Amino acid sequence: MLDTARWTVLAPLLQAATAGPDLLDATIRGLTPQAVAAEVVAETGEHDVRLDLVFDGVTTSHLRTDSDVVVTLGLADAVRGLYAGRPWSSLSVRTPDPEMDERGIAGWFADRKGVPQAVQGLLSALRPQRRDLGELAVELGTDKWGDLHWYTQHYERHFARLRTEPVRLLEIGIGGYDDPDRGGGSLRMWERFFPRGLVVGLDIAHKNVRGPRITTVRGDQSDAEFLDRLGRELGPFDIVIDDGSHLNDHVRTSFHALFPHVRSGGLYVVGPADRVLAFLGRAPGGHGRHVDRPAQVLCGWTEPRGDR
Ligand SMILES: C[S@@+](CC[C@H](N)C(=O)[O-])C[C@H]1O[C@@H](n2cnc3c(N)ncnc32)[C@H](O)[C@@H]1O
Repeated sequence: MLDTARWTVLAPLLQAATAGPDLLDATIRGLTPQAVAAEVVAETGEHDVRLDLVFDGVTTSHLRTDSDVVVTLGLADAVRGLYAGRPWSSLSVRTPDPEMDERGIAGWFADRKGVPQAVQGLLSALRPQRRDLGELAVELGTDKWGDLHWYTQHYERHFARLRTEPVRLLEIGIGGYDDPDRGGGSLRMWERFFPRGLVVGLDIAHKNVRGPRITTVRGDQSDAEFLDRLGRELGPFDIVIDDGSHLNDHVRTSFHALFPHVRSGGLYVVGPADRVLAFLGRAPGGHGRHVDRPAQVLCGWTEPRGDR
């Protein structure tokens, strides 16, 4: 039912990113350096620079392979930097050596114009800085912060302990409703917030949202059988967020079908908060005061059972 082929590479790679060098090397060998390099390149995006990745003495070239600006990095180092934010020990940068001609030093610098920006652009993509969730929400266009809701502060607080873990997150409701090219802001936000996270978005409408660690699924959150299958194929999840139809019946059905697929110690989040209060059988305390509502009402916690 679901296209999870890429997860067979990503899931073990994200697990091994914080492991010792021997285990990480063995994981890369098992997955094949080509498949791992493809994941690294998928994360970096386009850059006007050549990226050489080295593993077991073999170098493969990526991005702009005809460029004479070359960033060279060990593949394991790249994986550690990308998913675990670790500093590199194998980085080298080769840039063209401009001639010192009649233009003198000014000409020498002119020939290097754009090189530092190009190199730094790639390096920043290879080791993304940790950003605040509110900042990511505004940049990536989810309504979870600003305009409609002021939720990210609560998410940030509850998700902090999982931030560097290889989490699996499912969000019901990708956004954009019937427009296949709209929505996905929150999925991109979660992908960036959890550097080792695998993110699944579920929507009743077809969606064209793509991302290196994002998978989208089309389905109805009121279909319990479908949700159970989803949980068995892609779970267990560390986090489930219900931001779909917001209809109480749907919220209840989804909760009963998916909660068994939430890992011990995980989180099940239902939003907006007034729906949660209704869902829990309490009267909402008024509208338009989301920022004041305690975050706890957004979250259903599972008790850790010590199996993680
Ligand atoms: C509020 S938007 C989600 C916003 C998004 N999570 C964000 O933060 O950017 C709600 C989405 O839920 C989807 N939806 C509505 N009913 C649904 C259902 N029964 N099952 C799954 N998705 C549904 C809609 O198509 C819409 O794209």
